[in-house]
Amino acid sequence: MKRVLLTGGVGFIGSHVCIELLVRNYEVIILDSFVNSSEDFFLKIKNLVVHINPLFLKRIHLYKGDIRDSELLDRIFLESKKENKLIECVIHLAGLKAVKESLEKPLKYWDVNLIGAIKLLESMEKNNCRVLIFSSSATIYGNSEKKLIGENSKISPISTYGFNKVSIENMLTNLFESNPNKWRIANLRYFNPIGAHNTGMIGESPKGTPNNIFPLITKVASKKISKLKIYGENWDTNDGTCVRDFIHVMDLAEGHILTMEYLLNNYPQILNLNLGTGFSTSVLELVETFQETNNINVPYEFVERREGDVAMVVADNSLANKILNWKPKRTIRDMCKDGWKWELNNVD
Ligand SMILES: NC(=O)c1ccc[n+]([C@@H]2O[C@H](COP(=O)([O-])OP(=O)(O)OC[C@H]3O[C@@H](n4cnc5c(N)ncnc54)[C@H](O)[C@@H]3O)[C@@H](O)[C@H]2O)c1
Repeated sequence: MKRVLLTGGVGFIGSHVCIELLVRNYEVIILDSFVNSSEDFFLKIKNLVVHINPLFLKRIHLYKGDIRDSELLDRIFLESKKENKLIECVIHLAGLKAVKESLEKPLKYWDVNLIGAIKLLESMEKNNCRVLIFSSSATIYGNSEKKLIGENSKISPISTYGFNKVSIENMLTNLFESNPNKWRIANLRYFNPIGAHNTGMIGESPKGTPNNIFPLITKVASKKISKLKIYGENWDTNDGTCVRDFIHVMDLAEGHILTMEYLLNNYPQILNLNLGTGFSTSVLELVETFQETNNINVPYEFVERREGDVAMVVADNSLANKILNWKPKRTIRDMCKDGWKWELNNVD
């Protein structure tokens, strides 16, 4: 049974990737500092694991700590080695992701995101583990002129967070090119993951007020926040609100497993892959679909545009379709249904 190190595995995307890894017969070692998650949410992941199959619980291990802690990273690899179970792949999701905060506190973002990646790579190199999946983001494309963004579209980030992702991708390219026979690396450029596991037992649960649209919608629907703010009504789009490529978090999670299996079964290489659906949905359409699917009201108001936002970001996902034979299966309605189920369960 293959063992995978999942950094940031108690976070939104990480928790869903963790479930998918367990279901597909992998063993998962999580490293997370809980800076944007919690012990309590880790319990929720374990409850879901037990719900799926109590035997899977033996295959999930947690280290609480910081990705910049080299000693801890080395200890994780070493302890696995002592058990005669090598870590075969690292899926690196630990990091900070709030675009607005990254503009206000750039050094904090460079420290956690870039230094964190460097420390991880140093430890991987030292411990002979050279298969890496890195969670990059569509935010690296910035203001794209194109209707559908391909992997070779212009890279022009407009926030510190976006620059962090581009720099890490560049560093990974350098590392790969320094010895092209060694590393297997995939930069997965996520579009807009939303929704939750279809049991509603885990979902997005950020600390403090959410920054992303979807948890804000669910919090307004459950009356934890009074009104949804929609940033800008005069963007150059059909209804004037921003257009995004929303992808169900479980489709995204499946993309990780396929990517890992592809890397493990192929020659050393570095890949950039868009993980999105290729479908455009405006923020207003998302709110309307959420209301209609769940038969619930989401009061909203239009406010000024937000720094760091762009009009339209939709993926050309043909490369991931082709290389991984990966096709997102879930609809916007599924995302709205599952996300609402999670909100109803997530009483805090
Ligand atoms: N959610 C999105 O819309 C989106 C889009 C594109 C890319 N991404 C990237 O995917 C990754 C995961 O995103 P998410 O939405 O699950 O975020 P999240 O905040 O829910 O999860 C990140 C996890 O990493 C942990 N973490 C943060 N800093 C850490 C550190 N220094 N050491 C150890 N653990 C640390 C947090 O506690 C959290 O559990 C991030 O790298 C993010 O930039 C997310």
